[in-house]
Amino acid sequence: MNWKPTSLSAVKSGNISLGGELTVNRLGFGAMRITGEGIWGPPKDPAGAIAVLRRAIELGVNFIDTADSYGPNISEELIAKALAPYPKDLVIATKGGWNRPGPNQWTHDASPAHLRKAVEGSLKRLRLDRIDVYQLHAPDPAVPFDASLETLANMQSEKKIRLIGLSNVTMEHIERARKILPIVSVQNRYSFADREWDYVVDYCERNRIAFIPWFPLGAGTVAGRLLETIAKARQVKPTQVALAWLLKRSPIMLPIPGTSSIEHLEENVRAASLQLTDEEYLKLTGITELAS
Ligand SMILES: NC(=O)c1ccc[n+]([C@@H]2O[C@H](COP(=O)([O-])OP(=O)(O)OC[C@H]3O[C@@H](n4cnc5c(N)ncnc54)[C@H](OP(=O)(O)O)[C@@H]3O)[C@@H](O)[C@H]2O)c1
Repeated sequence: MNWKPTSLSAVKSGNISLGGELTVNRLGFGAMRITGEGIWGPPKDPAGAIAVLRRAIELGVNFIDTADSYGPNISEELIAKALAPYPKDLVIATKGGWNRPGPNQWTHDASPAHLRKAVEGSLKRLRLDRIDVYQLHAPDPAVPFDASLETLANMQSEKKIRLIGLSNVTMEHIERARKILPIVSVQNRYSFADREWDYVVDYCERNRIAFIPWFPLGAGTVAGRLLETIAKARQVKPTQVALAWLLKRSPIMLPIPGTSSIEHLEENVRAASLQLTDEEYLKLTGITELAS
């Protein structure tokens, strides 16, 4: 069966509600790759990065994931430069709780003092009065988890944050967090070939929490032959099959493939129209189960 895209739009991915307050198309954009080498400093081609962000919006993407640590600061600054004043339906989800001592280096800091400074910094760089979705980038082993969350809850009461999400967490973290405040999204590494967090996806589905898989394409390159066979038969790219698998996996799935290239962005958005058959989906799902 050959698949021809009917149109190029993220709308084709369907939509998802974030905390019953905001609705976005299920194919988002990850803005980590619009920075320099090692996610450090400005990109080689800043005008190209701005063009990618603007094209994403033209293609119906209305959920952009970023973090203060991407660059650091660069990704948020570029988003504001490219898109402010923002379209009404655009949701920018940023994160805090990591420090960046150098290229490819990430260290925890989710202390209340750091998080407060981080939220204020993101508000300024993104040119916003309130951040739609603020995600704790990762629990900090040196800081009580509750203390990080209580700080975010306070900033939500102060109307600096609208909705709160978590990243790099277990189900136990999510359950603990939900005793303190509502959690609208969880962002963990996940793809059809990288299924450690399957049970967290299921938990999110049961509890109507959006699941944002990071590295949604990366594992596809490792996954190899089956992905390529399906892609060849459908006359699409393996990366598009990887995205289509995620979108079929659960209605709460909100993939955020990242790229610095308009060509790749368009390919990724085109995957929103690609419906895998049940047979293709099960084959892709099963092969990982056998391997694990
Ligand atoms: N919460 C966390 O701890 C965490 C960690 C990592 C990432 N993230 C978020 O998740 C987003 C996605 O993660 P990721 O960037 O690591 O993984 P990804 O989106 O799976 O992969 C990005 C890589 O794939 C390439 N690519 C993108 N589209 C492609 C296509 N159609 N064909 C071929 N190659 C393609 C990109 O290079 P080109 O630029 O050349 O296209 C880039 O090297 C990030 O942007 C970030 O927002 C979160």
